[in-house]
Amino acid sequence: MRDWFRRKYLDLLGSIYIYNEHRGYTAIDRVLQAVRARWPEDMDFIRKLEKHRADEQKHYLMFRRWFERRGMMPIAVDRTCGHIDRFVGIMFGSPIDDLDPMLIVKRDDLFERMCRVVSLTERRGHRQVEILLRHPIVRSDPMLMKMFRIIEQDEPSHWAPYDEWLRIHGRREPSWWERAIDRFIHGELLFLKLPLLFATPRLKRRRSWPDESDQSPVPFDHAIVASGA
Ligand SMILES: [Fe+2]
Ligand SMILES: [Fe+2]
Repeated sequence: MRDWFRRKYLDLLGSIYIYNEHRGYTAIDRVLQAVRARWPEDMDFIRKLEKHRADEQKHYLMFRRWFERRGMMPIAVDRTCGHIDRFVGIMFGSPIDDLDPMLIVKRDDLFERMCRVVSLTERRGHRQVEILLRHPIVRSDPMLMKMFRIIEQDEPSHWAPYDEWLRIHGRREPSWWERAIDRFIHGELLFLKLPLLFATPRLKRRRSWPDESDQSPVPFDHAIVASGA
């Protein structure tokens, strides 16, 4: 029973993470394209976003490698388990894929909203990783511990450029109600969706890796993961 619980916990945790990491870098790709078009001279901001994008892809690849070592595909979780999907859905009233990043960068009021959503999501991710690093089931998996330590180190550089943009442009920080929405989404995942997934006996697994459908697939580089770069 204990071993069943441990395996299912790790299985679900990894599946939710690999979904969110993939969602992260593919969404940043679209934002980057729009930011390059709107502020081509702001190389500092662009470089920081490129670094953010590269990190999220690196995190994705670490989880892919972790699943490959386990010899199984991730459970097919959908966007209801995506923190950023839910956050964008509530704040913009539209799924991420239906949003036009070009329209968002043209309107400062929309872009500042997006910066706050990304910043809160990244801070949430950092807090969550700190909790997971103390979790006994996670601690029983050395590879996962190594991955979460890398993520923990990367995270602060992810929210920084968005906070900086807000500060430089004299825009406000996240308000109490934006923080409340972030807490609500996290609680919903932890106390509603995760227990529901746990109680479902035969969850379907993905048949392909999420990056196989990327617009411009970057070749899977085992070396990047192996070196933990
Ligand atoms: Fe990440
Ligand atoms: Fe991140």
